Amino acid sequence: MHQPVLLHEVMEVLQPRQGMFYIDGTIGSGGHASSIIEQIAPKGTLLGIDRDPSSVSSAKEYISHVVAEQELDVAVTIREGNFGGLAQIISEYGERKADVLLIDLGFSSDQLISGKGFSFRKDEPLIMRYDGDAGKETAAQVVNGYPEAKLAEVLKEYGGERSARRIARSIVRTRRKNRIRTTGELVEVINEALSGMYRPKLHPATRTFQALRILVNRELENLEQLLNDIPNIVAPGGRVAIISFHSLEDRLVKQRFKALASTAGAVLLTKKPITPSEGEVKRNPRSRSAKLRAITLKPSAKGGKT
Ligand SMILES: C[S@@+](CC[C@H](N)C(=O)[O-])C[C@H]1O[C@@H](n2cnc3c(N)ncnc32)[C@H](O)[C@@H]1O
Repeated sequence: MHQPVLLHEVMEVLQPRQGMFYIDGTIGSGGHASSIIEQIAPKGTLLGIDRDPSSVSSAKEYISHVVAEQELDVAVTIREGNFGGLAQIISEYGERKADVLLIDLGFSSDQLISGKGFSFRKDEPLIMRYDGDAGKETAAQVVNGYPEAKLAEVLKEYGGERSARRIARSIVRTRRKNRIRTTGELVEVINEALSGMYRPKLHPATRTFQALRILVNRELENLEQLLNDIPNIVAPGGRVAIISFHSLEDRLVKQRFKALASTAGAVLLTKKPITPSEGEVKRNPRSRSAKLRAITLKPSAKGGKT
């Protein structure tokens, strides 16, 4: 099962307390949420959203089990949704703003076995969408449809792939003969394109897969929208914690938090990003690139939360 990343550190920066309204914008398997709800009980409220319907079902099941087992007095709503639309979601939900907001970006280890093509170690259809919505852009459409130059640009920009042009050329050469349908076929093309190149640490497909996932899910656009909407989502004096997994995301978070601190009186709770301990990276290698940043909004003039 997915292990929550930087859990102890998230609890420290968010400081969830009895009665608080906690929004989890990426509830995933409910790992962080299961610990946080213990702190907001009694009379706390959790609104958990996720773009992936299967994450929503597993979080619902797990959280209701935790609530029942520990007899927690917490109002729980877990539903499908995009954190890029959180401001709208909470306005439908009752206008109350969050005391604590957690966003844990990227995908969960459970999604690696979801059959949606997130893993380059499996041979699955090239979808890579969290929501899997029919009719929306999939990784297969990008790989088989984008012009070579645009493909190279995507791999470079979103994946930081230094051999982007070489991979893009190889993809276009292959798809002229046969459509690239699966993750296995794509990995083969990448392996061929990079054969003989020295890559000591990373699987050759790592950066290409990252780039495609970021693109088809519009990950950076959603994050930007969320960051801009923070004052509409989080109450005065409320806290926000964001865990990111690559530099493009971390840069957006850093810049927006800085702007909120200088223009809106928010206070940075992390001057530098918090990263996992050696012990955590050993236990959960997936955590190695995680960076946690947190901020607290300016309290209202009365000193209350709303
Ligand atoms: C790293 S996992 C979260 C794990 C969770 N904190 C836990 O402990 O179980 C990230 C989750 O965010 C979801 N996600 C990605 N982009 C999203 C978006 N724009 N809106 C809502 N959920 C999103 C993914 O579907 C995935 O389930």
